[in-house]
Amino acid sequence: MNNTQSTELLFELSRPGRRCHRLPPCDVPTRPLTEMLPATALADQPPPLPEVAESDVIRHFVNLSTRNMSIDTNFYPLGSCTMKYNPKRHERLAALPGFADVHPLQPDETVQGMLELLYEMQEFLAEISGLPAVSLQPAAGAQGELTALYVAAAYFRDINQPQRKRVLVPDSAHGTNPASAALAGFETVTVKSTAEGLVDLADLRSKLDERTAVFMITNPNTLGLFEKQIREITDRLHEAGALVYLDGANMNAILGITRPGDFGADMQHYNVHKTFTGPHGAGGPGSGPIAVRDFLAPYLPVPVVVKDGDSYRLEFDRPKSIGRVRTFFGNVGILFRGYCYIRTLGPDGLKAVSENAVLNANYLLARLKDVLEVPHGDRCMHEFVATARKLLRNRKINAMSIAKRLLDFGFHAPTVYFPLVVSEALMIEPTETESRETLDRFADTVRQIVEEDPAFLEKAPHTLRISRPDEARAVKNPILRWQPSAGNPTPEGAAASR
Ligand SMILES: Cc1ncc(COP(=O)(O)O)c(C=O)c1O
Repeated sequence: MNNTQSTELLFELSRPGRRCHRLPPCDVPTRPLTEMLPATALADQPPPLPEVAESDVIRHFVNLSTRNMSIDTNFYPLGSCTMKYNPKRHERLAALPGFADVHPLQPDETVQGMLELLYEMQEFLAEISGLPAVSLQPAAGAQGELTALYVAAAYFRDINQPQRKRVLVPDSAHGTNPASAALAGFETVTVKSTAEGLVDLADLRSKLDERTAVFMITNPNTLGLFEKQIREITDRLHEAGALVYLDGANMNAILGITRPGDFGADMQHYNVHKTFTGPHGAGGPGSGPIAVRDFLAPYLPVPVVVKDGDSYRLEFDRPKSIGRVRTFFGNVGILFRGYCYIRTLGPDGLKAVSENAVLNANYLLARLKDVLEVPHGDRCMHEFVATARKLLRNRKINAMSIAKRLLDFGFHAPTVYFPLVVSEALMIEPTETESRETLDRFADTVRQIVEEDPAFLEKAPHTLRISRPDEARAVKNPILRWQPSAGNPTPEGAAASR
């Protein structure tokens, strides 16, 4: 990132009379606007737009575009978020007019290609999960969770078990799990983890009863560990008449190796934007389809893409459906990229994705565990959670300082302070798309950082334009709009006051 770039807003660059282009003098008679528009439609003053040259505009936006860290510019080991490389070929394919220019209100017979693609995507997701009925509608993992919980609620109402009002969630779960449960009208009950970081079966049993609707489990869990006792868990839940929901955010570890439907899950979501690539970050765009067992299929959102003979159509006539959860058919652009990814790799390729993701994570774990404690074992799935708690105790270096200092070396920070069951957590997910050289560079950098002066680390990053913003204030009180103020009453005043 270039620190010599201007930080001025276009408003601040504004100079009276400066223009991007000038029109030739008008050589036809003019008429006052009031002859064409009612006076009430006319503003007293022209809007206070910045007056700038074309080069100002171009430099401003090009410079802004280089400020972001992204998977295209830097290694991005953001645990749980699966920031893997997004193939550019998919962008070119998605831009083909036959896909990019269709309108969601076109009659089915004019969008057969797109419907075929969505139908096949439903089939692929059913096959990969081992759960036969799919809805492509949810726009993100969290919305997939919510949709599946609505489906579960509709099912229990339908079979006359409205007393099932509880959703059990492990204490290591992503925050979206309890949030989705609450939004869907359930009461959330937390299930403890053992010292090994797995679901505490005794605690689960003690909380399981006829009020339980769903157990939401992430497998591999957010500590990067496979819940080995998953069969026992799903059997207990089913004996109690409850459903098992699989948070599929970590599918990148198990593609083609095991299937949630085979180990007893009844419903799951996918994060297509993570597992099957789709440029994401900063809140979107996402795609969180859900897959469920046959007996839950009638409750899925409408429409579902169905095949009649050789043609495809959207089916709306499903009387038990929970209805729409999103406009049209979901985030088709991201589903499209996921489809390309699955088709390109095929079954063997997808399996290799997970094998390499797990291999890369274990390689980094092995290279870092003597400098960053990894409390939950020597082996992980596609990610692992390290902790800086000993470093904090012995050298006053916390997880945040390590994360911030990594930015100086051109690495995106790992996820920090999550999952909550590990203090001073650094959650590292390299993904399969990184080379051994990149992993080595990252490991060498972390090893160097933990040897640095704690007082220096506390003020990192040192090379970026902004060092440690007040993040809570930035979120709660974002200033996204330029306003004339006492100090900067006009665009001109703003510029003059700098
Ligand atoms: C384990 C887990 N579950 C659910 C989600 C929610 O997914 P999304 O961000 O697509 O809503 C995430 C996102 O990071 C996650 O890591």
